[in-house]
Amino acid sequence: MTFDVHQIREDFPILADLMHGTQPLIYLDSAATSQKPMSVLNAERDFYLHHNGSAHRGAHALAEAATLAYENSRREIAQFIGAREDQIVFTKNATEGLNLVAYAFANATAKARNGVDAPHEYVLDIGDEILVSEMEHHANLIPWQELSQKTGAILRFIPITDDGRLDFVDGLINEKTRVVAVTQQSNILGTVNDLAPIVKAARKFAAKVVVDACQSVPHMSIDVQVIGADFIAFSGHKMLGPLGIGVLWGKNLDGVPVFITGGSMIESVYLDHSTYAKGPQRFEAGTMMVAQAVGLAAAIQYLNGIGMEAIAEHEHKLTGLALSALHEIPGVTIVGPQDNLSRGSAVSFTVDGIHPHDVGQILDADGIAVRVGHHCAWPTCRRLGVPATTRASFYLYNTEHEISALATGIRKAQKFFGV
Ligand code: ALA
Repeated sequence: MTFDVHQIREDFPILADLMHGTQPLIYLDSAATSQKPMSVLNAERDFYLHHNGSAHRGAHALAEAATLAYENSRREIAQFIGAREDQIVFTKNATEGLNLVAYAFANATAKARNGVDAPHEYVLDIGDEILVSEMEHHANLIPWQELSQKTGAILRFIPITDDGRLDFVDGLINEKTRVVAVTQQSNILGTVNDLAPIVKAARKFAAKVVVDACQSVPHMSIDVQVIGADFIAFSGHKMLGPLGIGVLWGKNLDGVPVFITGGSMIESVYLDHSTYAKGPQRFEAGTMMVAQAVGLAAAIQYLNGIGMEAIAEHEHKLTGLALSALHEIPGVTIVGPQDNLSRGSAVSFTVDGIHPHDVGQILDADGIAVRVGHHCAWPTCRRLGVPATTRASFYLYNTEHEISALATGIRKAQKFFGV
C-alpha cells in the first residue's frame, strides 16, 4: 500500500474539526496523545453493543465473548512487538506499568526485611544502585525515587550531552546496579537511544532493564527480543488506541512480585494468606478494560495496515522539514538533537523573548495544537537550562503543510511580541 497522508486523514474525523469555530485543526501534539481512527472507535462501540461482559468471570455467552475478545487483543499486541502472549500485561497506562515494576522491588524488599519469602532478584539491599537517565519522563523517574527512599538503594544517573544525547559509559553499571530504567525515545527531546550497550552492560551484572517505550512503540517497528530488556512499558492512547489502557511486557512474569491485588489475580485465597496466578493474570486484578483492549487491537491493525516502516519514514521526513524550518527562524533554538539522526518526531524549542505558554496560545488561536511546559521531564529541562519549551510532535496523519503552518505561527508570535 502506498502511503497517502490525505487518505489516512479521512479515517480521523477529528482532523476535519474547526478550532474556535473557524480554524482548521493542526494537531501537533501526538506525543501527548494521538487521535483515533474510526476503526478504533467502531471496535469499541461494537464490543459494547454486542459482546459486553466481564472477561475471565462468568460462564455465560457474553462473559465468554468478552474473554475471547480480551485474549485476542493480547495476542494482537504480542505479535506487534515480537512477544509471547503470556508476557503481555494490560495496565491503565505506561505509568502504571513502570510503577508495577518499581513496586515489585519495593514489595519484595519489604517482605524480605519482614522475614517473608520473596524472590531474591527483586530484593534490594541498602547501597544497591538504581540507574536512571537524565532524560526520563517523570513516570520513569519518580517510581525509582520512591523505591530508593523505601529501600535505601541509591539512585544514580546516566548523564546527557548538551544536545540531548545519552552519555552512557559502561562504568555506570557495576556489581551494585540492580535496575536500569531508560527511555527508548525521549518525549521532550525526541532522542532515540541506543539501548544495546546499556542492555549489554546490565546483563553482565544481572541488573534488570526497564524501558519506557511510550514514544517509540507508536512510531517504529519494535521487537522485544532484539531490545533484550526485562520490562517494556507503553501506552495505548499514544498509538491510536483508546485512553485507559497500557501494556507492560515482561520477559518472565511468573516470578515477579505482585502489585495491585484483588479479584482474578489469585490461585487460592484463605483468610490469612493467598497464592497468586502465573503470567499476566497475576497483574490483572479487578475487572479489566476489555473495550479498551479491543480498541487497542484495532489500532494495531490500523498501524499494521499502513506499515510501521512507512509511518517511520513519513515522520522522519516531517521531522527533517520541521528542524530545517525552525533552524531558519532567528531567535528559535531547538532543545535536543539538532539533526535528524537517531531522532523521533518530537521537536522541542524555545523562542527568545516569548514564554512557551504564550507561543502555545498564539499557535492555538490559529488552530495549531502543541504542548508547552516541562513535558513531565522537569529535570531534563533543568539540565539543558530551559524552564520550559514548546513541543511539536508529529504522527502518520500530519502533513508538510502543517509544518509550514507551525513556522508561520511562530513568526506570527514573534511579530505579536515584537521580538
Ligand atoms: N507523556 C506525554 C507527553 O509527553 C503526556 O506529552
